[in-house]
Amino acid sequence: MTVSKLSAITKTILQSRTPNEEVHAIQSLSDFYLAFRSNRSPQPSDQAEKVLKGGIALSFDHAADCLQDYYRTARFIKGTYLAIQELLLRFPNQKINILYAGCGPFATILLPILPLFKPNQLQVTLIDIHPESVKFVKELFTQLDLLSFVDCISVEDAISYRYPNSNLHMVISETMFHALLVEPQVAITRNLAPQLVNGGIFIPEEVTIEAIITSFSKEPFLYNAAAPVVSAITERSLMAKLFSLNKNSASVSFSNQEYRSPRLKVPVFQNSSPDICLFTHVKIFSKLELGPSESLITNPYCLVSMLNLPSGSSISFIYEFTEVPSWSYQLAD
Ligand SMILES: C[S@@+](CC[C@H](N)C(=O)[O-])C[C@H]1O[C@@H](n2cnc3c(N)ncnc32)[C@H](O)[C@@H]1O
Repeated sequence: MTVSKLSAITKTILQSRTPNEEVHAIQSLSDFYLAFRSNRSPQPSDQAEKVLKGGIALSFDHAADCLQDYYRTARFIKGTYLAIQELLLRFPNQKINILYAGCGPFATILLPILPLFKPNQLQVTLIDIHPESVKFVKELFTQLDLLSFVDCISVEDAISYRYPNSNLHMVISETMFHALLVEPQVAITRNLAPQLVNGGIFIPEEVTIEAIITSFSKEPFLYNAAAPVVSAITERSLMAKLFSLNKNSASVSFSNQEYRSPRLKVPVFQNSSPDICLFTHVKIFSKLELGPSESLITNPYCLVSMLNLPSGSSISFIYEFTEVPSWSYQLAD
């Protein structure tokens, strides 16, 4: 497996225009990585998660499997490629410093595009909390002869990590689950986004959470990324936009590691749309996005059925991430 084979696969990813083309291109990338993974002996810690103050870091195996969330992987790779091109224009004659926080064993979102650049254009730092992932990704960079792009690859906690200089142009971190539950995307963004230079780019650019009235059982839901969902006909209505996580809002939108929505009137119950669900929209970069159920990270999350709520009451939604991120709600008359 050579770097020229990888470049060819990356070009098919970047050129993919339809969902089918995206799936096929990512399947080739998955086969490419599999050739390296199958030479490695499984370790006892491969399925162990790490619980951090701010969220759970997925295990080695689980992080590797994220690659097969096809549209997610294709669009993050395309978005990161475009964002690097943009940074090369914004910062002419500078080497672009990139921090990949939570790179997992494959550095999936960044490694495939590196061969399309020159080492004098980019300098990358890769961190992950799992030593086995860091060890494997170092080995990959060595075998693919990509170490000339690397400043540092190390075991670090991205929730508290300090980048060693003040010239950080890009942060990549996909450490999230649907509705920003469980994983530490918010805590990581809050720590790393303020370390970017003016004009720097955080990937994903924005994650928006909305409360939507719908019928959860009729909503499309991606269980298995290998079998993309067919969209269903549902009657959705927007109850409220809750918050958007981006490089500017990350440090100001959450007091005491929580978000509380204003009080909202509970709508009149209707059989056809009985549930309050949280929808996640991910803007990766520019026009590259993930909409509802296009990825495991944008599946709808059913917070509560309105059957259980007193009519005429008010509700507020609460997101907490001191420990493992979760949603709850509070009722008032
Ligand atoms: C969802 S996986 C994504 C893997 C890969 N970047 C991708 O996009 O396919 C998240 C990765 O972030 C790592 N991670 C989560 N929280 C972290 C933290 N606080 N510090 C460092 N790494 C973290 C996990 O160990 C895991 O490898």
